[in-house]
Amino acid sequence: MNYSRIIGTGGYLPEKILTNADLEQMIHTTAEWIVERTGVEQRHIAAPGETTCDLAEQASRRALAAAGIEPRDIDLIIIGTTTPDHVFPSVATQLQHRLGCYGCPAFDVQAVCTGFVYSLDIANRFIRTGASRHALVVGADTFTRIINWQDRGTCILFGDGAGAVVLEASEEPGIIDSRLHADGRYKELLWVPAGISSSYDKTRKNAAFVEMRGSEVFKVAVTTLKEITEQILTANNMEVSDLHWLIPHQANRRILAATAKRLGLPEHRMVDCVRIHGNTSAASVPLALDVAVRDGRIQRGDTLLLEGFGGGFTWGVVLLIY
Ligand code: UT7
Repeated sequence: MNYSRIIGTGGYLPEKILTNADLEQMIHTTAEWIVERTGVEQRHIAAPGETTCDLAEQASRRALAAAGIEPRDIDLIIIGTTTPDHVFPSVATQLQHRLGCYGCPAFDVQAVCTGFVYSLDIANRFIRTGASRHALVVGADTFTRIINWQDRGTCILFGDGAGAVVLEASEEPGIIDSRLHADGRYKELLWVPAGISSSYDKTRKNAAFVEMRGSEVFKVAVTTLKEITEQILTANNMEVSDLHWLIPHQANRRILAATAKRLGLPEHRMVDCVRIHGNTSAASVPLALDVAVRDGRIQRGDTLLLEGFGGGFTWGVVLLIY
């Protein structure tokens, strides 16, 4: 049986930074409120004309360089995104074109902030069945394009970015286990109530905005992240103390802290990039992974738990040896 191992990570954040002081000039808020309630101090914003595929390409090239392989070695591309450049074709096919690794399967996965975790789980299944040897798995979003900058309950949280990993078939583990979930009953707690096939009023400009019932999302997120962690650890005869690093979706500093507390996990074993990235949706987990790999916190042989939670609701976990 093949395992799949992460052999390279990469991340990319757009140049422009939007600080809390900038937001004070735009909406009725204070930098203190934002930091206290969310932990976010700054977020990156894609330049006009800079697309999700642009961010995905940068992160992917860095992951390929870290892995020491060429684009032609890639035989599968999966991208988690909610903000594709076009309705179709997918971002994944356009990334494939830019990398020049024609012919391999390439597709997008729509699971909002859980998009990368979903994509990683799917890629792992391709590798385990022998259908792929080198998979490029990306989480990329220009989420600020669907933010209403007048809505102080959402615009403070989100930023743009991309993270990528290269997975390789290996005799050694690798991804040990993964679990995906969804519950569509929660649709209206976190959604964009506009779409191509729904009753979208095309006369309203820029009406496709995120709407969120923040405190309700918060409560479900904390409970769910604790539950899925315990479930996957129990199924693998492991304890929280066996984890070297928890890499949760970077939604809100308070969600991360509450989850760690409920699990009895010391906060210093959780990768936290909320302060500098904000919530980058599908990019948040691979970006945080890349930061901690590159600054040396995550070492080969460490046991990691990657967790996603997002609109739908969707949620999932991947347990792996790095
Ligand atoms: O990635 C997908 C998952 N998404 C999340 O996980 C988001 C989860 N939710 C959150 O992060 C938090 O709920 C928020 C940061 C969005 C909001 O924090 P909260 O502590 O839940 O605040 P709240 O929504 O209960 O609002 C408390 C008060 C309200 O005022 P009143 O009604 O008590 O007078 C809001 O109007 O804070 C007010 N408020 C603000 N005040 C200053 C809301 N946003 C702001 C703001 N600045 N930016």
